[in-house]
Amino acid sequence: MRRKLLLGNWKMNKTPSEAVEFCKEAKELGKLARANKVDMGICVPYVDLVPVKKILKKSLIVGAENCHYLEKGAYTGEISIPMLKDIGIDWCIIGHSERRTYDNETSEKCNKKILALLANGITPVYCCGESLETFEANKTKEFVEEQIVTGFKDVSYDDAAKVVIAYEPIWAIGTGKNASKEIAEDICGFIRNVITKLYDRKVANKVRILYGGSVKPATVKEYLTQKDIDGALVGGASLDVNSYKELLTSLL
Ligand code: PGA
Repeated sequence: MRRKLLLGNWKMNKTPSEAVEFCKEAKELGKLARANKVDMGICVPYVDLVPVKKILKKSLIVGAENCHYLEKGAYTGEISIPMLKDIGIDWCIIGHSERRTYDNETSEKCNKKILALLANGITPVYCCGESLETFEANKTKEFVEEQIVTGFKDVSYDDAAKVVIAYEPIWAIGTGKNASKEIAEDICGFIRNVITKLYDRKVANKVRILYGGSVKPATVKEYLTQKDIDGALVGGASLDVNSYKELLTSLL
């Protein structure tokens, strides 16, 4: 049985002081999530990681939004995996479409990050998803397959199921135009089949696949009741603490 997973993605929002206010109110949520067999957490900007982790400890997952794949060196402005480990961070988003669009993050680069994270015992949340143009040209599946195949290159059989995949159609991110549950399920099921081809059904049945793109408390349940959708990666609706809490309570 795959456990449900609700992950917030704050993107470039909340100063450390704002993050602390949020966490004071959100920390009790962990117990409710666990009691209902849901894994829940937030991925936050680098400067928020230490104060957020200090408050949330193990009650909610605390993740980074990106990392470099090398351990150290002359890469001004970058953050390494050992730095994340040192402050107790064990989750990290990789390949979000905003990074692919604005920071030239390719699937090849994502693959290096995924391998490095796995080698360090950190869970990668690997994002994939197509543009509106690709969607309208009916080429979503071949596009997403390429992202998955490249992202998982050299990921071992034993490690494959540790990667969380987030399917986030770019046209649905922050636009209020969410993909229908049928579209989301179709692509998440397709991704599971790609994992079956790369590994086998046993691995594919273990991999958690999230949907992301304008998920709100009012819509989260319709996604999470689909066979192949194991959770949600939520941007806008994870910023307000009440809406963040409602993401969970609306599932119960
Ligand atoms: P959104 O963002 O929920 O604001 O659409 C989702 C994401 O980018 O992860």
